[in-house]
Amino acid sequence: MNDYPHDNSTLSAPSRRSFVGGTTVIAGAAALGLASRSVFGQAPRTRMDIVAFAQDATRLANFEAAVQEMMDRSAADENDPRGWLPNANVHRDFCSIPDDDPSQMHYCYWFLAWHRAYISVTERKIRAISGDDSFSYPYWNWSSDRHIPQAFARSGSSLSNAVRYTVPQGLRDDQVDYFPDDPVFGPFGVAALSVRRFEARTPGQIRGSFGGIRRPNPFGAYDNNRLERTPHGDVHNYVGGTSGQGAGDMTDFTTAGRDPIFFAHHGNLDRLWEVWRQDPARKATEPPSEHFLNHRFVFTWIDGMPIEVPMSDVLDTTKLGYVYDNLNVFRTGAVGPVASAESASSRPPAVGRQTIRVPLQPEAAPDETERKILEITEVEAPTQPMTVSVFVKPANAPPDDLGTSIGTFSALLSGGRIAWPSRTLTFDITAAAKKYAGEQITVQLIPHRIRGQGSGPEIYPPLKFGQMRIVTEGASDHHR
Ligand code: C2O
Repeated sequence: MNDYPHDNSTLSAPSRRSFVGGTTVIAGAAALGLASRSVFGQAPRTRMDIVAFAQDATRLANFEAAVQEMMDRSAADENDPRGWLPNANVHRDFCSIPDDDPSQMHYCYWFLAWHRAYISVTERKIRAISGDDSFSYPYWNWSSDRHIPQAFARSGSSLSNAVRYTVPQGLRDDQVDYFPDDPVFGPFGVAALSVRRFEARTPGQIRGSFGGIRRPNPFGAYDNNRLERTPHGDVHNYVGGTSGQGAGDMTDFTTAGRDPIFFAHHGNLDRLWEVWRQDPARKATEPPSEHFLNHRFVFTWIDGMPIEVPMSDVLDTTKLGYVYDNLNVFRTGAVGPVASAESASSRPPAVGRQTIRVPLQPEAAPDETERKILEITEVEAPTQPMTVSVFVKPANAPPDDLGTSIGTFSALLSGGRIAWPSRTLTFDITAAAKKYAGEQITVQLIPHRIRGQGSGPEIYPPLKFGQMRIVTEGASDHHR
């Protein structure tokens, strides 16, 4: 632990200036892999579902105490490297920056990897501070638990010490990317798991890829990958919510890392990456390029010194020192709640609507796995955070009938602006296109409630967009 230089002049966190073009340059500090920080050679710890984790009261109390200690340190001195705040601010520094900044870790193929490294470093800090050598950061299985788990919600606990305007309703199926009635997506539990390719080679592929596009790329195109849009963004907005006063921590990339549930949310996404990689054909699509594999992520350790996590460690969780307790989407025995019926009047009014004709299906589809994609073009960034479902129904259906949700999108804050990497949104509409072939359907964009109680009615200004249309996409990219 002490085999690196202690030069007081480098005790502050490395400034953003030291990351040049995505390459890490650390002056005067040894480049150390995370493995050298305390668990090397030991058996990996098991990351647990928070519900199982919390069954051991001592284990939970140690976790809470360590987070409390870190928060107390930050309250006394916001620069204390053992504090919670400097750790939280890493997310601000790498994620709440322009979309095309070389250090931006969203909208590109390091999204999952960087967040994995970030959770791991945070987990190591808690392990060191709590003295609980078996500690692993528990994850929140929101497919099964549609409310903030009790351990993260108990008032007075450090684990609930965050700004949250969470609505009482709980997450709906589409916010956690679950489409039980869709024959293709339903069985996956999380529809994003159906995606077959990790790396996007063109800007148009980013939205249907599991991992995203290279950064930097010659197109200058950055966008949410499939998992990053939904459920990732939706769960952020659900937890953080908004109020008349502003947004919750999780709703803004600048503050998201302050909420202890951030690492439990990303833990579940990280676990889903492992679920996805169980298929060797999917895993094989992770880029073999040196550009992807030789990258090293830089964080700051509790002694204030830089710590590097190389991609070679990131791609094997046992090298980072953990495995998951299970790789089932739903907790065994819990297949997710059956969503109660919703009517249009139970949701905020639509922010967009268009009636379109569904193309007739060819007599015999040349490729059974061909997908129909609803494309919404030229969508302007909303003026406030929101999570929106895309509902479809026959054009002549009664007004209070919501129809069927085919997907969601979320607008989060990133400092003073709305994070809005791309103006095109796409949704798989295959099942509905089959059902309504040749007919007129109405597509409606209907927000979820994300405003905490007591902050007035939820009405959003209409979203400005170009047009909605249905295009055909081959099956080569995803969905099988
Ligand atoms: Cu870097 Cu969920 O955010």
